[in-house]
Amino acid sequence: MNTEQLSSPNVVWHHATVTRSRREILNGHRGCVIWFTGLSGSGKSTVAHALEENLHQMGCRTFVLDGDNVRHGLCGDLGFTEADRKENIRRIGEVAKLLMEAGIIVLTAFISPFREDRQKVRGLMGHGEFLEIFCDCPLEVCEERDVKGLYKKARAGEVKNFTGITSPYEAPEKPELAINTTQSLNDCVSQVTQLLKERDKIPA
Ligand code: ADX
Repeated sequence: MNTEQLSSPNVVWHHATVTRSRREILNGHRGCVIWFTGLSGSGKSTVAHALEENLHQMGCRTFVLDGDNVRHGLCGDLGFTEADRKENIRRIGEVAKLLMEAGIIVLTAFISPFREDRQKVRGLMGHGEFLEIFCDCPLEVCEERDVKGLYKKARAGEVKNFTGITSPYEAPEKPELAINTTQSLNDCVSQVTQLLKERDKIPA
């Protein structure tokens, strides 16, 4: 499959009468993609789900795309080679874009270790629609937490291409926000909520 090819042959885009802006007016907030990136165990899913809970309680329409869940279905055929991770992020980017077009606040929690892949996803969206949030947590802390026991396995050579150990992680150079995920969950969530207000994604 050539994933660089952007559309199938002989297909014409169909324009909906229920537009994104009509959906957003109905929702009372903008659609956007909040893209969490960071090492395994850095808190991406935890922060994404806690933020979603907050936003939901505020009446926002949200959806979380989570690495471990998506890899059970949509990306269940992919492993952790560089090529598979690239394809993983490409598919998630397209799904996130569709959900955003539906007026939803999409929260994604994928390691997404490569700058170029994240950059490509950013390029799919309009200016200001993609908010990259770096879950900044030292490798030693993630490894100490080792919630899934995978760091131990990676050190023992039982899991190959493990991010941070035998596969690289490229931290964002200019994320919209970097959160130190060794601080409290509440603090992490308020910082992202504040960003959403500043960027007019949700009402102040
Ligand atoms: S990504 O690199 O393609 O963005 P993704 O976020 O979907 O990765 O999946 C990461 C999750 O898969 C980790 O949190 C971990 O639970 C699990 N996992 C299994 N094998 C690996 C590996 N080799 N490297 C990183 N994570 C792995």
